[in-house]
Amino acid sequence: MVVERSASIEALLEERRRFPVPEEFGKRANVRDPGIYKRAARNPEAFWARVAQELHWFKKWDRVLEWNPPFAKWFLGGKLNVSYNCLDRHLDTPRKNKAAIIWEGEPGDDRVLTYQDLHREVCRFANALKSLGVKKGDRVTIYLPMIPELPIAMLACARIGAPHSVVFGGFSAESLRDRINDSQAKILITSDGGYRRGTIVPLKRSADEAVQGAPSVEKVVVVRRVGDKSGATMQEGRDLWWHELVQGQPLTCPPEEMDSEDMLYILYTSGTTGKPKGVVHTTAGYLVGTYATTRWVFDLKEEDTYWCTADIGWVTGHSYIVYGPLASGAASIMYEGAPDFPDRDRFWAIIEKYRVNVFYTAPTAIRTFMRWGEEYPKRHDLSSLRLLGTVGEPINPEAWVWYWKHIGGERCPVVDTWWQTETGMILISPLPGLTTLKPGSATFPLPGIEADVVDEQGNSVPLGGGGYLVITRPWPAMLRTIYGDPDRYVKQYWSRYPNLYFTGDGAKRDEEGYFWLLGRVDDVIKVSAHRLSTMEIESALVDHSAVAESAVIGKADEVKGEAIVAFVTLKNGVNQSPELINELKQHVVRKIGAIARPEQIIFTAELPKTRSGKIMRRLLRDVAEGRALGDTTTLADPAVVQALKDKYGEEGEA
Ligand code: PRX
Repeated sequence: MVVERSASIEALLEERRRFPVPEEFGKRANVRDPGIYKRAARNPEAFWARVAQELHWFKKWDRVLEWNPPFAKWFLGGKLNVSYNCLDRHLDTPRKNKAAIIWEGEPGDDRVLTYQDLHREVCRFANALKSLGVKKGDRVTIYLPMIPELPIAMLACARIGAPHSVVFGGFSAESLRDRINDSQAKILITSDGGYRRGTIVPLKRSADEAVQGAPSVEKVVVVRRVGDKSGATMQEGRDLWWHELVQGQPLTCPPEEMDSEDMLYILYTSGTTGKPKGVVHTTAGYLVGTYATTRWVFDLKEEDTYWCTADIGWVTGHSYIVYGPLASGAASIMYEGAPDFPDRDRFWAIIEKYRVNVFYTAPTAIRTFMRWGEEYPKRHDLSSLRLLGTVGEPINPEAWVWYWKHIGGERCPVVDTWWQTETGMILISPLPGLTTLKPGSATFPLPGIEADVVDEQGNSVPLGGGGYLVITRPWPAMLRTIYGDPDRYVKQYWSRYPNLYFTGDGAKRDEEGYFWLLGRVDDVIKVSAHRLSTMEIESALVDHSAVAESAVIGKADEVKGEAIVAFVTLKNGVNQSPELINELKQHVVRKIGAIARPEQIIFTAELPKTRSGKIMRRLLRDVAEGRALGDTTTLADPAVVQALKDKYGEEGEA
């Protein structure tokens, strides 16, 4: 088996409980006909075309799919605009004055934008971008906290055909700069600051630092979120306040007629090398995929209030706060701050305040809530909830059942949704009105999606066995390429097995065909559901003048899923010290961002390597997780890892 099994994975595979569809829920579910799977499988193209017909097209497509492996094109010849579909399409309907975005600021301020309001703000900002010379095809980087201007900016870009590249506000100046340079963005949109646990995050300062090394940026647009307390300064001629820029802009802006395959956005994600890759999503397929899955998986009804707690800086926020929900005419909540500010009941207070019906979060958050205790959700009326979802990492059955019981009141189905930045849309998930749930299983590929579990040679593994998860036919929202690096696209996803999309995840199917996701099989780790590359953290460490070599691993962690442990070899003459440990941790934060801060740094005279010089991370994981050492016969010098184990044992006790 390809994945080493931690205790939580063992528990997952022994899980036997079943949760049938609650009767009341099943009666009203959007998808009630089990025939949908067969219909989709019989003719997937006709199936997706039927979904696409529900959207607005300036010109209908000529052909649904062109598949020249590994390059897919969907809805060829079609013309449409994503912002038109998310906004204008609703304005002639009773949705016009319905809440599109319900925003809650961390300090307790709030703002509701109806579809009409959002349309107006998007048009004004789209006109503002045009006034800065932004044209179809120009890239725009967005580095904002979770405030309404973030989706407004994204939709404004989509309206004029300028691909956006949203960079999570927790990334460092350096990470931001690398992403701007890779995409050669002309405009950067940021804010003076943002709020996090009552303190101010100085985004503008990081933006200034980033732009110094990013010559493609001509203008910086700055949202005033925090005000004078932010300490932000404006650079004459380069920086413009958002509120001044939109003043006097026309209230409408004709949408650009985009080709189905025109780029909608780039989103950088960590891969198996030190350099993040720009995942490219295009217009029609992405819209069709996110629109369809939002309706099926979240079972959204016109009157629902829906809340996905992700940050829009990640793909979950792109697909399931902004594009999928708005294309579906939903009321989508966005929250700026932390779950424990001012107290550990903030999420539950928000659910009560807005009477949230559908709630979507990450297993790491659920495990944190479990640890905090039931008293926090008990303080609030959560009876409005009718469906719960999770995403981002495997969910252990214990957390699943806690979520079902203490948040869902034993009446809400829990949909565990598997997907990736690259897939753009949910691919493996229950249909909540049809699927009998098993805690910890993402259940089955959605209608129109074909997945398999294969062995090293690419042969399908019979039910009951484990291997690598692959997707066996193209799907509408799949990434089209890596920005500026088509070879990497081919190599990364399509070279391991001919014509099969390699996900990088291990999986098992049980005797009934349910899929159980077992975590990454490559050098990608998931820390609190954030995706990081061990190589990227290693590069950051080696960049420090004291470090000769480093190896980073994800160690199983009860709350975070994985925790970052870095083994570091110092240069000759450099002394180990607790100060140096702190300095190295800080160095990683400066290079990448706080999400990549190693939890533990272990100094070692040498790293265990094979005779060909490859670092044996598996053994480092054994050391970090306190397991008996696995096979060491391929090591150049087995004494190295034994010494490390002895030393680590001592440090563990210290
Ligand atoms: O390992 C899988 C894990 O997250 C990876 C994708 O990370 P990212 O691109 O950041 O997207 C996360 C949000 C879509 C996958 O390769 N993953 C995501 N969802 C699940 C999951 N692992 C198990 N179960 C899930 N539901």
